[in-house]
Amino acid sequence: MTYVHIEHITAQEILDSRGKPTIEVEISGGGYTAKAAVPSGKSTGVNEAVELRDEDGGVSCVLKTIESEITPKLIGTEFASQKEIDTLLRGIDGIENFSRIGANSALPISIGALRLAAMQRGMELSDHIADVAGMQKSKQAPRLYVNVINGGAHADFRLPFQEYMIVPEHESVHDAYAYIVKAIEILGELIEERYGNVPLGDEGGYSFVSEMIEEPFELVSLAIEKAGGNAHIAIDVAASAFFEGGGYRVNGERMTKKALGGLYEKLVQAFPLKSIEDPFEEHDAESFTALHAAFPDILIVGDDFTVTDPERIAEVAKREAANAVIIKPNQIGTVSDTLEAIAVAHDVGWKTIISHRSGETLDTFIADLAVGTGAYAMKAGSPLQDVRRVKYERLLEIVG
Ligand code: PGA
Ligand code: ZN
Repeated sequence: MTYVHIEHITAQEILDSRGKPTIEVEISGGGYTAKAAVPSGKSTGVNEAVELRDEDGGVSCVLKTIESEITPKLIGTEFASQKEIDTLLRGIDGIENFSRIGANSALPISIGALRLAAMQRGMELSDHIADVAGMQKSKQAPRLYVNVINGGAHADFRLPFQEYMIVPEHESVHDAYAYIVKAIEILGELIEERYGNVPLGDEGGYSFVSEMIEEPFELVSLAIEKAGGNAHIAIDVAASAFFEGGGYRVNGERMTKKALGGLYEKLVQAFPLKSIEDPFEEHDAESFTALHAAFPDILIVGDDFTVTDPERIAEVAKREAANAVIIKPNQIGTVSDTLEAIAVAHDVGWKTIISHRSGETLDTFIADLAVGTGAYAMKAGSPLQDVRRVKYERLLEIVG
């Protein structure tokens, strides 16, 4: 059985939400054309698959690789599965981490082929993903992890933590999304009263300068309440970004890992905080384990710590150092590896959160991936930015 038939591939440079060049491909065959674009991270884990760029930050080297090395091997070849395509891409690279051809050449091809296969089969992309993965589509639609206040590397460290998110607990995505729109408007008014007009960070969340660690939590809690409650707070600390010389630098002061753990304890007690991503720097598994043991009901989420790598996820699970994981396809480089990472996470009983990157495009693949794999949540930033909003809109379209 032929999985997909590819007749033509073109790749071009487009700009991401930060105005940086990235790759978009068009793959066609059998009268259909599928597009796919690759996002780009800023607070990246050291073990992520490699994103290749020219010396000046451009992507012409990646365009060249797609044209000269990848396209000739895919055109006219009959593939029996997504795995065959992705194995071929890994083979072309020849190195573990896509450091030769770049995950930014492999991933758009992998996603584009997946989309084209869905079209050629006459299937919805999310159904096709469920089929390829051998997974059940979720009965409950994914929750929304919506970034509403930006700090860390995404906002010049005006606030210490990178992301302050609202997670609505509504049954339907429609209700959750309507709630979020309202909560963001209320939060904007609260922040404007205190700080006037503030800039938005890389992921569209409000960003202001505050020395008080609790202040963003107070503001988000208040917005949640005023919008009608029924929501929690999630944070992405992205702790590797402020780890220096064996300690953490928070608002200009040094903090030990023990003190940082103590801070989380205070925050969990004071606020409706249910999910903490990358609470410690990415090599400190011991502190992750201790935090998970102290708060078994809180989601301790790996991102830089786990980098969508099936082996790392299995290892971290063995150490009981997390109970949830961020899934970012470009951290690992292909659709098949991403699906394997999700399968391993689900096998060990973790919650999966399918995520965008801080430099995004209008590609809405993560919404289909979240539904198709029955993921716990989709994390897509603030709908105040078009590149994020389209992902929520795609999710609404899929779940009807
Ligand atoms: P990045 O950040 O896309 O800039 O790496 C997102 C995150 O840390 O979750
Ligand atoms: Zn993160």
